Amino acid sequence: MQPDLARLNVNLASAQASATYKIMDRVAARRAAGARIISLSAGEPDFDTPAHVCDAAIEAIRAGHTRYTQVAGMRPLREAIAAKFQGENGLDVGWQDTIVCTGGKQVIYNALSATLNAGDEVIVPAPYWVSYPEMVQLSGAVPVIVSCGADVGFKLTPDALARAITPRTRWLILNSPSNPTGAVYTRDELAALAEVLLDHPHVLVLSDDIYEHLTFDSAGFHTVAAVAPRLASRTLTMNGVSKAYAMTGWRIGFGTGPRWLLEAMEKVQGQQTSGASSISQHAALAALNGPKDFIRESRAVFKERRNLMVSMLNETPGLACPVPAGAFYAFASCEGILGRRTAAGTLLATDEDVAGALLDEANVAVVHGSAFGLGPYIRIAYALDTESLRQACQAIRQFCLSLKD
Ligand SMILES: Cc1ncc(COP(=O)(O)O)c(C=O)c1O
Repeated sequence: MQPDLARLNVNLASAQASATYKIMDRVAARRAAGARIISLSAGEPDFDTPAHVCDAAIEAIRAGHTRYTQVAGMRPLREAIAAKFQGENGLDVGWQDTIVCTGGKQVIYNALSATLNAGDEVIVPAPYWVSYPEMVQLSGAVPVIVSCGADVGFKLTPDALARAITPRTRWLILNSPSNPTGAVYTRDELAALAEVLLDHPHVLVLSDDIYEHLTFDSAGFHTVAAVAPRLASRTLTMNGVSKAYAMTGWRIGFGTGPRWLLEAMEKVQGQQTSGASSISQHAALAALNGPKDFIRESRAVFKERRNLMVSMLNETPGLACPVPAGAFYAFASCEGILGRRTAAGTLLATDEDVAGALLDEANVAVVHGSAFGLGPYIRIAYALDTESLRQACQAIRQFCLSLKD
């Protein structure tokens, strides 16, 4: 049915539904029709939430912790978050400098909707997580997309940042390790960006650190407020338990930043969802205060899978995949197969055609790079067991080998 756009909020009318959710819907439809699809499209770890975290949630229910909490989160969790920011990130914060939200997503949404006005600009380096531009737009502001290609490691350079800043810029969004490319900013790279930002005190910085614990090789993790403490008073550092503890469904994210901003975010959240789920907050507390073996072990597993994926993709004619330093995504160029036809006769004119044909003809679901603001690429999430990854790569290879001119 044609939507009646005139009835919608103007900001919503121009927003796109999440490309990743759209693919998940298509996968669900194909599966319901009996197809066996290997989905490399989901942005979540395939592991179970650690047992001690689940136990803490069950215990919370039994103990009757089933009521509203304070909007900004229950104090023990906020204390654990402050300790995490201090201990793991070197940020000098107390529990009052934190906020707990329903997922990392709500941290970002709260911050943008609390600060943006019509016509404000937000610098979003591309490739970007699909939700940033849409959230900016929903807040009535304008996403200023800065393209960061493979030649710069998919990372924003100081020159490109300086060129993008205008008097209307309200925020710069940084995401390291990155979804969709897995790129990780080094300390020096962040320091160089900070140098530019120090000349523009009107710009706030949103540091999306949700993949913090997934860095491989020598790529250490750094967050901008710690690298450049002079920026801390205008930086929102966002994180959560979703990716680090395989807790995507529990919906707990958190942030730290200047008090005026946290108070404004709390005001937004107080009229929207109130405090995050009390049970999930208890689970997150157990995750943050509990043993950290899970993080170490999952990082090792992801690293092995990354190595397997990258080598298999690079052996596939027409694909080229740089080695990602973090997260659980490979971002492979599919330029080499554009203009060709599939065995079923589909012309691959764009990366969206490639992703569509891979799903329809190779039974493998990936997301096209242009959904993240940079084509022609495909994003391949390797959050799946090794055998399935191997099969998926073989199917992709077979698909590429069967293409016709
Ligand atoms: C870059 C990035 N930021 C934030 C989020 C949101 O995390 P959460 O599930 O905690 O809302 C995601 C989830 O996919 C993500 O990829």
